[in-house]
Amino acid sequence: MSIIDIINKKRNRKQLTREEIEFAVNGYLDGSVKDYQMSSLLMAIVLNGMTARETIDLTDIMIKSGDVLDLSKIDGIIVDKHSTGGVGDKVTLVLGPLLASLGIKIAKMSGRGLGHTGGTIDKLEAIEGFNTKLSEKKFIKQVNDINIALVGQTADLVPADKKIYALRDVTGTVESLPLIASSIMSKKIASGADIIMIDVKVGNGALMKNIDSAKALAKLMVKIGKAYRKPTICLITNMEEPLGNAVGNSLEVKEAIDTLKGNGPSDLLEVVITLCSIIIGAVNKMPNNEAKNLLFKQLNNGEAYKKFEELVKAQGGKINNIKISDKVFSIKSDREGYINNIDALHIGEIAKKIGAGRNTLDDKIDYEVGLVLNKKVGDYVEKEEELVKVYLKDKDISISEILECFTIEEELKSNPKLILDIIK
Ligand code: URA
Repeated sequence: MSIIDIINKKRNRKQLTREEIEFAVNGYLDGSVKDYQMSSLLMAIVLNGMTARETIDLTDIMIKSGDVLDLSKIDGIIVDKHSTGGVGDKVTLVLGPLLASLGIKIAKMSGRGLGHTGGTIDKLEAIEGFNTKLSEKKFIKQVNDINIALVGQTADLVPADKKIYALRDVTGTVESLPLIASSIMSKKIASGADIIMIDVKVGNGALMKNIDSAKALAKLMVKIGKAYRKPTICLITNMEEPLGNAVGNSLEVKEAIDTLKGNGPSDLLEVVITLCSIIIGAVNKMPNNEAKNLLFKQLNNGEAYKKFEELVKAQGGKINNIKISDKVFSIKSDREGYINNIDALHIGEIAKKIGAGRNTLDDKIDYEVGLVLNKKVGDYVEKEEELVKVYLKDKDISISEILECFTIEEELKSNPKLILDIIK
């Protein structure tokens, strides 16, 4: 078998056999397939696609490239939730403790932010002392003790994805449904949960830019989940404007805390409650309305926040030490009208520029900086009224660049829906 024959076969739109995919992936891991050859094969996959069978084989080969977590020592049904990435997406920080406060086991390995999107692990590390690296034994014990543990992915989990994803990131080969689906699902399946819930973000701030590709990705991931007998549910949600008001690590943790205390922004709350009620339905077969009532009760009676405090304490964090910069600027609107759009991608890029995100995995994050939107899509703004508060440290912003993110018009356009579809 030769890697050149495999590249040519995919270039000529033919299906690869499992052995051929194995040859390429394992060869790339052991160095016998070179970066330039793997890039070429990845580009052929981006252009010519993969069948469901090839995608499931690729997922399986990636899973087998490393360790698979054995969570059988955790009592009860274990849930993992994943987001395909967005701006202001602090859903896991609320959803995890909220479900754990109801006895549902959350054993979750999260990622770091890259590009304009944030990552749960970076947000948690904004809490002084929070340890995102637990041994497997401690991880399992903590889930058994308090129903929840949130940690980073270990180096041994799906090493093939780690190496291939890093290459995709710098070769224009991220945007491919089979490559994205196999990358996400290999990590979810190797993480050992019983039920996989995926929030597929769609819109200009997301990887999926339109609803058709988001649905196709969701269907593919559900199919992969079925092949492993892991119920996989995808919720497709809008990511045209940032989720909630806060963008930036410490600011997002503070907003998550407000939400856990029952004072969250309505869009964040809607996504959290929808995802949680679906999960409760899958775990306990509880009707949706009953589940929603229960969830609101946990937010309003302090139980969800109490669970978050327990989680932070168990992982060494100091909940009262979440630093936010005191260099704050108020950006005011230069006109009056209805806000018909807030460009999530652009806001995410501004947040990254001021230090809240990174360009490469080695960049250091400034947890204290970010933006808080004072207005959301559908709101009316007066001239000179505040649109955004910006928290800065050592980098500057351009006011006009921030104002450009807002589309302000005389007429109110119809409000876009937040929850677009459920695929299972
Ligand atoms: N997230 C992943 O983990 N992998 C992808 O390919 C895209 C988003």
